[in-house]
Amino acid sequence: MSEAINILAIETSCDETGVAMVRAQDDQVKILSQTVASQVDIHVVTGGVVPEVAAREHVAVIKPLLEQVMTEAKIESNDVSAIAVTVGPGLQPALAVGVTAAQAIAFAWGKPVVPVHHLEGHIYSALLADSDHIDPSSFPALALIVSGGHTMLVNVENHCRYVILGSTVDDAAGEAFDKVARLLGLGYPGGPALSALAAGGNPEAFAFPRPMITSPDLKFSFSGLKTAVLYAWRPLSVLEQADKRVDVAASFAAAVVETLVRKTEQAIKRTAPHSLLLTGGVAANSQLRQAMSRLARAYSIPLKMAPLALAGDNAAMIGQAAVYIFAQGRSATWRDLDAVARLNLDEFTVDRFPVLSRADGSQPG
Ligand code: KG4
Ligand code: ZN
Repeated sequence: MSEAINILAIETSCDETGVAMVRAQDDQVKILSQTVASQVDIHVVTGGVVPEVAAREHVAVIKPLLEQVMTEAKIESNDVSAIAVTVGPGLQPALAVGVTAAQAIAFAWGKPVVPVHHLEGHIYSALLADSDHIDPSSFPALALIVSGGHTMLVNVENHCRYVILGSTVDDAAGEAFDKVARLLGLGYPGGPALSALAAGGNPEAFAFPRPMITSPDLKFSFSGLKTAVLYAWRPLSVLEQADKRVDVAASFAAAVVETLVRKTEQAIKRTAPHSLLLTGGVAANSQLRQAMSRLARAYSIPLKMAPLALAGDNAAMIGQAAVYIFAQGRSATWRDLDAVARLNLDEFTVDRFPVLSRADGSQPG
């Protein structure tokens, strides 16, 4: 039996504080303990995330979360192999809290660190969705990552090897869900509320555009769709709005889902993947899960979808990714860490060590 790897993982890139302990032994990866503290109640007031407010909240909760995870996982600090942390992309002040915490722990315990890209966390939560190990036959995998900040198709060639096939040129799918939800008076973050409402409406009531669906590239664009909803919604009277809200929601959700699925289909034709991954906060959307399942069946490709509980931001996914990075013998010291708000998935992961460049382009001294 090989020696166990225990990873303490931290995620603070946006408005969820996540801490987790993930263990790998003999190819099996298990989440020993994980906890997420959401700040949604706080950001409701501003209708969006204010970075400094998010950072302050991360600071307030991270210590008790760390204590909780260490206790629940029943792992002593001596038995922790490395500290993993999301270094980017995300909100700089929010990222900095997690990175600083990871540096302090790594320094105090004399442990290495594993810098993780937020999106590779999402990718690994899908790769490990329905199993405690990743079969090599899963690669190359085609990942559709859909969240509040990203909409991207990625060719996951192998462990920790990513090629971005296309991403959004403006709004992310989750962002569009949130903005349209706000327009319909559904509060913040409106994605889940809008998708629940959409389930009861007529998806063909409004003919909203399917942006860039026929363009030969694998890029997405959702800001025009959002504007189309605005133009359909504004002229309606208050009574009409109350009457049509459900159908607008259903028609909008159908347009997003069809766009995502058709682009994924184009990517399947180009890359002939051995598996399909669906992940990110919007992967919790049931219409999207059903449509991706149909697509996967049509092409006879196994589909792995991030479990509902891990579709949104969490630290378990960061620990899961870190296990495979660490197993490749790739770790660094606390000095090498930095929070980087803008971080390209494929560029960063080629050469994540030894020193990350700062967001402003300067090198850490
Ligand atoms: O991955 P995530 O937690 O954070 C980012 O990395 O952005 O994704 C959050 C996004 C939000 O925009 C939220 O509205 C959206 O995921 N979302 C949904 C659903 N659940 C969460 N969008 C559509 N349908 C859902 N059921
Ligand atoms: Zn995310």
